[in-house]
Amino acid sequence: MAFGTLEIRGYAVVSSDGRIADREGRFPADLRFDADQALFQQALDQADLTVLGRRTHEAAPNLHNRTRLVLSRGVEGLVEEDAHTLWLNPEGTDLATVLGSLATDTGTIVVAGGTAVYDLFAATLGYDAFFVSVAERVRLSEGAPIFAGCRRLADVERRLEDAGLVLHKRTWLDRTARLRLIEYVRAG
Ligand SMILES: NC(=O)c1ccc[n+]([C@@H]2O[C@H](COP(=O)([O-])OP(=O)(O)OC[C@H]3O[C@@H](n4cnc5c(N)ncnc54)[C@H](OP(=O)(O)O)[C@@H]3O)[C@@H](O)[C@H]2O)c1
Repeated sequence: MAFGTLEIRGYAVVSSDGRIADREGRFPADLRFDADQALFQQALDQADLTVLGRRTHEAAPNLHNRTRLVLSRGVEGLVEEDAHTLWLNPEGTDLATVLGSLATDTGTIVVAGGTAVYDLFAATLGYDAFFVSVAERVRLSEGAPIFAGCRRLADVERRLEDAGLVLHKRTWLDRTARLRLIEYVRAG
């Protein structure tokens, strides 16, 4: 466990140079793969809570009414918008306590980005596992990285190792589309 009884899992689909969005900050069609979508949707189904940044929340409608915790500096503390949408400004709050009070079923939390959200967890509670789908045929130089300052996939892997994770396995999610899955898990 990264923190107490919580199981924190990061998910991202990236270009071959480790980018999650294009230079305009949008999710590009080139990163949309059925196999990755299936993996991600299954992870969301199994989680109590999805944590994501305001822009990612706004770009992705919550079609399945899953519980979302949206991070924003535009709110104070924890604010409930509706039965499926909570907002949090983590500044000055105890993130572990907030998450623990919301993830009371399986205790599993999916961290779905973007960059500042992935960074926040790497720097604070850590991850128990991180799943990176890599589109080997796609390059998005100048696009937003998973973690700030990572310009190449090797930088991303080093950042995951710095966060206490080790490579668990590399597999093909879709060999024909050259979409790999790189899975990191907590060391020890
Ligand atoms: N390829 C992938 O796997 C993947 C994953 C995630 C996102 N994306 C794509 O990446 C793009 C958006 O990513 P992004 O990184 O620009 O935006 P983002 O993280 O989704 O949203 C940024 C906003 O989230 C809030 N936020 C983030 N960290 C915070 C913190 N520590 N404390 C308080 N508020 C915080 C702030 O909202 P306020 O401005 O309201 O304060 C910030 O402006 C979208 O196109 C999305 O589809 C792709």
